[in-house]
Amino acid sequence: MAISLETQYTKGFIDAEDWENIQPRVTEAHEILHSRRGAGNEFLGWLSLPTDYDRHEFERIRAAAQRIRETSDALIVIGIGGSYLGARAAVEFLKTSFYNSIEKTTPDIYFVGNSLSAFDIQETLRLCSGKRISINVISKSGTTVEPGIAFRIFRDHLIRMVGPEEARKRIYVTADRSKGVLKALADREGYESFVVPNNIGGRFSVLTAVGLLPIAVAGGDIDAIMAGAATAMEELHTPYLFQNPCYRYAASRHLLMQKGRSVELLVSGEPRCVQLGEWWKQLFAESEGKNGKGLFPTTAIFTTDLHSIGQFIQQGTPLLFETAVMFDRPANLLGVEFAADNFDSLNYLSGKTIHDVNRIALLSALLSHMDGGTPSLLLTVPAATEDHLGYLFYFFEKACAISAYMLGINPFNQPGVEGYKRNMFALLGRPGFEARRRDLERRMR
Ligand code: PA5
Repeated sequence: MAISLETQYTKGFIDAEDWENIQPRVTEAHEILHSRRGAGNEFLGWLSLPTDYDRHEFERIRAAAQRIRETSDALIVIGIGGSYLGARAAVEFLKTSFYNSIEKTTPDIYFVGNSLSAFDIQETLRLCSGKRISINVISKSGTTVEPGIAFRIFRDHLIRMVGPEEARKRIYVTADRSKGVLKALADREGYESFVVPNNIGGRFSVLTAVGLLPIAVAGGDIDAIMAGAATAMEELHTPYLFQNPCYRYAASRHLLMQKGRSVELLVSGEPRCVQLGEWWKQLFAESEGKNGKGLFPTTAIFTTDLHSIGQFIQQGTPLLFETAVMFDRPANLLGVEFAADNFDSLNYLSGKTIHDVNRIALLSALLSHMDGGTPSLLLTVPAATEDHLGYLFYFFEKACAISAYMLGINPFNQPGVEGYKRNMFALLGRPGFEARRRDLERRMR
């Protein structure tokens, strides 16, 4: 089992009877998911994706990544929400947030189109100055405003730099198989294009070209990621809670919610998990946060945030529980040396790696938070490597679907996000949205 879940830090919140009582709900959610009879069942492509994917497209992704690595100093990844968070999470998890600053043989990766900040776009353009760039624009709908604006600007920049012919070879489109302006543009201009499968929603798409192309450009081993996800798919299949950490995680979340918790704080002792946390937040918030239900997902990095929100976690309003992600093996063996004069009185740490100290700090925090009345779940991941990342992606996707079905929610739609998009189209004057615009303007007066 690649990932283990420990629940001893929920003592006083979840007892043996709770586990027994929740099993039938979990079994029911498992059956809904695997019989493909549940709400949103047209979006279950992710469920068997680790073994059932387009091998030919996978080879094209690999080849395109190789070409981008050989011809570019930077890849501009344009997308928002599910069309960028997975790639960014993986790049930082595998290569850390220092990736762009360190010396390497792979291109820098700049993520744009994930906000409407003119400042960020301008600064990224400045970073591109004098660099050979390629662009990967990612949008399933092809109509999202944020990536749309960024693509216009960076495409123009690229054409100005290298001319239209060369630009054509440097633009890669990831979009719907046949619909939408982006796909139409790719076909017209001859851009190489990849598919966001119809049966996979944005936040479940990291193991498609959406995530895999940028990850491969950054030097991530996409075969190992898919292999890790395939292991998860095989191992996380049984409905029995005590044989399936993914379902025990979903069940624990459900039980803690029933016991009055409304916020889940995903914590890690490694800053390389910041963007994984962003991906996880979208996955759970957009999947579960409907019909007045769902846990509010948020994140923290320990020990950094123990010195800011730690006090609240332990003794503040009792609204949250923690899910801690801990690594078993160190990514680095840096340790604390012995000092002959013990000038700082830290010799009691000598011989320990910083990784060891970090683990102890995390466990100390969980114990202390439990004393304060805040329960925690502990997920242990063997190491920050591709195979375990693939496993983790699948683990959370499946836990999310099971959690939502246990709540009686369709995990695969996002009516709230669509609502904001429609309002924005109307207020910005997109043709076809005139009536909505009049209505919104009346409400704003
Ligand atoms: O998960 C989702 O469906 C959303 O977050 C979308 O990925 C996001 O809104 C971007 O949409 P699109 O890929 O159509 O540009």
